[in-house]
Parts: sequence; structure tokens; C-alpha cells
Amino acid sequence: MLRCLVVGLLVLAGSFPVGSFVPATAGPRSTRTAAARADFNWGAAARPSLLERDPGYAQALADNFTVITPENALKFDTVHPAPDRYDFGPGDRLADFARAHGMKMRGHTLVWHAQLPDWVTRETRTRDQWIGLMRDHIVTVLGHYRSAYPDVFYQWDVVNEAFDGRGERRPSVWQKGIGDDYVELAFRFAREAWPGMQLFYNDFDDGTGESDCDRSAKCAAIKRLATRFRSRSVPLDGIGFQGHIKDLDSPDFGSLAGWVERLGLRWAITELDMTCTSARPPQVDRPACFASQARAFGAAVRACVDSPACDTVVQWGVSDRDSWLNRMTYDPSANPLAFDRQFGYKPAAYAVVKELSG
Ligand code: XIL
Repeated sequence: MLRCLVVGLLVLAGSFPVGSFVPATAGPRSTRTAAARADFNWGAAARPSLLERDPGYAQALADNFTVITPENALKFDTVHPAPDRYDFGPGDRLADFARAHGMKMRGHTLVWHAQLPDWVTRETRTRDQWIGLMRDHIVTVLGHYRSAYPDVFYQWDVVNEAFDGRGERRPSVWQKGIGDDYVELAFRFAREAWPGMQLFYNDFDDGTGESDCDRSAKCAAIKRLATRFRSRSVPLDGIGFQGHIKDLDSPDFGSLAGWVERLGLRWAITELDMTCTSARPPQVDRPACFASQARAFGAAVRACVDSPACDTVVQWGVSDRDSWLNRMTYDPSANPLAFDRQFGYKPAAYAVVKELSG
């Protein structure tokens, strides 16, 4: 209570020096409260192992977000480790947490080229066997969550990253085993398994900061796919823009996603984080870096709020402490999220509150 009061007063005063420690808060000006009031889904990617190990992490997740995306818990290698065995334990722990704290979930991800177990990648199969395997996986995973957590999930990434930077299909096991129509088949199986679910295609941008979809080979390929799916009634509901951005190359999501809205589909920013490439060494230019993150996170949320086809922005991690980029050797101190290593509010978190309250 006292903590909420102190944090509330400080927030109202608007006087946090950059990088200062502010505990996570469920107070009246928290990102969670602002999102809830705006009827907006502001989420974080999370890991069940950290939830259990670190009470501060669990509290920060519940206090500051309305949505959880499983960072790895629902990927193929975790959820389907052997041909006849599914392990819903990790995914269920997140879903239980979400339910207990009144949060929703975005499912991630059913069909992807990465994080596949050896038993999938090593075996030779006929096309029909590949289709059977993909169908069994989609129908079983969605079937489980549809029956156990129908109140928790609202969006699901069915296919992740099918295209490379040139707009060609990636040579994934699904592409090689089934052919171009694996994407369409995946969506049809998903719809069959969960009729009311919002089914998304999810991918990252080309890294140039390009905001005109037609000028990005990958985005143009996704647009062609989605347009074809619309005309042929393939059950695709939305496009996820991952949003792993850099301070010098950050797209305007509103422009980038304009075509999605015009096609009658939904869109979301599904994995937002920002590495500061201009900050070298990263600690030195922290204030400048955090200021560009604040602008980018604010603009991302604003673009989504402004579009009737978007209601979800998810950052890829809970805080700078647990970001996946910390394990990337090129930038061990990327500090790419809206919350710092003590789960305190960074300028980007205040920018999110501001855009959601505006
Ligand atoms: C990443 C996770 O954050 C890491 O923990 C894991 O080791 C690799 O995958 N695009 C995606 C996410 O769609 O699933 C990826 O997540 C990041 C890039």
C-alpha cells in the first residue's frame, strides 16, 4: 500500500531520473491499469521457470501487463517432445497464472522452422505423413487449450516466419515436406480445432525500418499471401508484426499495417523490443537510448490504439533482466524493454501509460 502510494506520487511528479529504481506497481498509473482502462491488451512474453523461481518477476508480470505470450512454453520442442507425448505442463502453468491474475494469453506458435525436436527434423516422411504430423500437432495443442482454458486465450500465432528476407519461402521442414500450401493447411486445421479463435500469421520485419510494405520484399510477400487467403476464404484473422526494432531503424507500424486493415484483417505488435545500436558502449548513451525507446514504444502503442484493427502490443520479455537479447552475444546489455533489471519503470513504460491514457 505504502509502496503504491510512494510510486504513485513519484509518477504523478513525473520526475524519475533515467535508470532509477522504481519497483513494479499495480498502482493507478501502472501500464496495466492504463491498458485495462483503455480496453487494450498490453502484454509480455513470459517463462514459467522464472515465474516459479523469482517472486519479483511474477509480481512484475501480474502488476504491469494484461496479456501473456508464452516465450517458449508452447513451442513444438517443449509441448510435443516425443511422437506420442505432449507436455502441456509449462504452458498450463502460464495459463493458470494468467487466469489467477485476470490476464489473457496469445498462443505462440504452432508451425515454425525453429525449436523443433530431433524426432521431427531427423525422420523422413511422405507429404501425407508431414501433413498428418502437422495436423495432429495443431489439433492436439489447440484442442487442449480450447477445452482447458477457453476463457484465457484470444489470439494464436498459427504460422511463424514462413518467409525469408527476399520474400521467398524459408526452406523449413514444413515447406520441404509439404510444399507452399502448408501455410494454408495449417490455418484450416487450426480453424477446425478452434472455431472462435483469432488465428494470426506472425513475422519480423526486414530490419531496415521500412514503413511501406510494398517496398519490403518480405512484407510484400506476406501481403500477397494474405490477399490470396482472403479471396479464397482461408481462415486467417490477423497479421502479427514482431517488432524487434533498432533505435535507428524503427518502422511506423501504422503505415506498415495499413494494408492489413484495408483487407479486413486484424493486426498486432507481438514481440516488441528495441536495441540501441547508436549507444556504444551501451551504458554510456543510456539516457539517449532510453529516450528513443520511449518514443518507439509510445509510437507503437499509439499506432495500435489509432487503428480499429489493432488492440494488442506485446513486448518480448518482462524486463531487461530476462530479455532474450541478453543471451545474444552481439549485445549483452541491450536493455531493450520498457522495464529495467529491477522491474522498474523506464521512460518507455511511462510512454506506454501516456499513450494509453491520452
Ligand atoms: C526466442 C526466445 O525469446 C528465446 O528464449 C529462444 O531461445 C529463441 O526464441 N521470433 C519469435 C520468437 O517468433 O519465438 C523468438 O523467441 C524470437 C524471434
